[in-house]
Amino acid sequence: MIRASLKPVILACTLLAATTSWGRPPLPNEAHAVSVGTLNCTTSTCHGSVVPWEGSNVLQNEYTTWSRLDPHAKAYQVLLNEQSKKIAQRLGLKNGAQNAKECLDCHAHNPAQKFRGERFDITDGVTCEACHGPAEKWIKSHTVEGITHAENVKNGLFPSDNPRDQARMCLSCHMGSESKPMTHRIMGAGHPRISIELDTFNGIVPAHWKIDDDYRKRKGTPDSIKIWALGQGVAVEELLNHLLDPKRGRDGLFPELVLFDCHACHHPMSKDQYSARSGVGPGRIRLNDSNMLMMRALVSVVDAGNSKGFNDQISKLQAAVSGGQGDAMAEAKTLLGMVRSYNDQFEKRSFSNGDLQGVLKALINEASDGMYSDYAGAEQAYMAITSIATGMSKRGALNNSSEVNKRLAALRKLLANDEKYRASDFQKELVNLRNAAFVQAK
Ligand code: HEC
Ligand code: HEC
Ligand code: HEC
Ligand code: HEC
Repeated sequence: MIRASLKPVILACTLLAATTSWGRPPLPNEAHAVSVGTLNCTTSTCHGSVVPWEGSNVLQNEYTTWSRLDPHAKAYQVLLNEQSKKIAQRLGLKNGAQNAKECLDCHAHNPAQKFRGERFDITDGVTCEACHGPAEKWIKSHTVEGITHAENVKNGLFPSDNPRDQARMCLSCHMGSESKPMTHRIMGAGHPRISIELDTFNGIVPAHWKIDDDYRKRKGTPDSIKIWALGQGVAVEELLNHLLDPKRGRDGLFPELVLFDCHACHHPMSKDQYSARSGVGPGRIRLNDSNMLMMRALVSVVDAGNSKGFNDQISKLQAAVSGGQGDAMAEAKTLLGMVRSYNDQFEKRSFSNGDLQGVLKALINEASDGMYSDYAGAEQAYMAITSIATGMSKRGALNNSSEVNKRLAALRKLLANDEKYRASDFQKELVNLRNAAFVQAK
């Protein structure tokens, strides 16, 4: 193979990128290594082949797939369009969105100046290195015959195959993060609301990788349920970290509004929508708890005995944040501890068919308890139910796929317009789903 002619340069590198305070690799934009630029990945013998290579353990047409089909390759171009011009003007970004850190952080790979190689080009958008990490220390070694994935990761390749790290990476742009904040000011200037469900979103991006025997041998078998679960868990971690971070917490007199349920404020006053839920009384704003609802369903299965304690802790936090009793920061810290330890458990667990059934049942039952009174929760529930049903179907654990698909399509319709969302219709349709499908009513 041609690539084998490259000299085996295993870098005896001790200056590895520091890990985060809790031992996970730094996000690609935070790593202390040079990003060499997409051009270095694009030759036809590397990742720029037009068709997949036979006999190679990766497809080698990754660049072609990305540049032609992947929305990430267009992410920078978005900053030049009319909508972005309007947003930039409203925010007073004098040099335009395409030159503003506030926008480039997510619409491109935007490492610090000193970490940009000669061929680095910001206009490439969300590049290979935005997801796989700066290549300075692994570009040579990753093509050496016999090198293991773990060795590449040691050299700074971001472990995008690890569901928890993948979630941290994707969510850092699709939700925002400490180094790439999404703010209510940006939203208010006309940015679309962003939301993500990791497993669903993974399925939307055109895959430039193939899960085959060789992949499984090198990296293990990806489990879409684990990806979904950690997508939820990491989102809750991020929300709580944000809440607890004094540097990120405020916008003038107010806490950062992106942490809250958008539709708690943005709905017509004529819409009489109050429903008692999660410890928050009428007329108070609620944290966006859509991901917490998903975690509740997960915890009810993986740790049934402590499920009530977990749910109570969420309610305590909501109550404290919305001005009821308790110290919001202390409650957030307690919840964060629980969430991290559940994420550790999700990482280790092999989810069984029984687990999936249980989670699905719990998700549907949350609706009967009035938990999806707001759009964001319903949206996450829909994506979760779809992911789990798909996962079950792939495992042959779903008898009634075509009927379930019909019901899912009906649910999806009810979510088409966030401003017209009605919780009661959603709830009714979920009951149909439950009856159509596979779980017994509680
Ligand atoms: C925290 C990350 C983040 C930041 C910061 C951010 N964006 Fe975005 N933006 C996204 C994501 C993610 C999407 C895609 C949302 C989706 O489709 O789910 C998006 C979508 C958009 C869209 C709609 C794109 C389309 O294809 O219709 C525009 C326009 C846009 N962003 C402009 C901007 C501008 C201008 C700024 C700076 C003021 C900015 N963004 C800052 C993450 C971000
Ligand atoms: C939006 C994030 C993202 C971008 C951008 C991206 N990738 Fe990936 N890539 C992934 C994910 C997720 C996987 C699957 C998990 C894994 O194996 O790491 C993956 C897998 C791969 C694999 C592994 C295949 C295997 O069999 O082990 C290669 C090679 C790869 N990408 C190359 C590229 C190249 C080259 C580019 C740029 C042209 C690129 N990627 C851009 C997210 C991305
Ligand atoms: C560096 C920031 C960044 C990272 C990392 C990132 N994305 Fe994105 N993603 C974006 C932006 C910005 C857009 C919008 C691009 C556009 O509108 O053309 C986008 C668009 C998407 C879309 C299309 C959304 C739609 O409404 O059609 C999907 C799906 C997606 N990303 C999934 C992922 C997944 C999965 C990962 C992790 C494997 C990931 N992204 C990592 C910034 C990022
Ligand atoms: C605590 C209440 C509150 C929450 C929560 C909130 N907003 Fe707002 N939002 C406001 C206020 C107040 C304005 C300014 C309205 C005005 O200028 O008339 C505003 C303005 C906006 C605007 C500009 C359009 C307009 O009506 O002026 C958008 C878009 C927006 N918000 C989106 C969001 C999104 C998306 C979320 C959730 C991530 C969110 N908001 C959460 C109170 C809120």
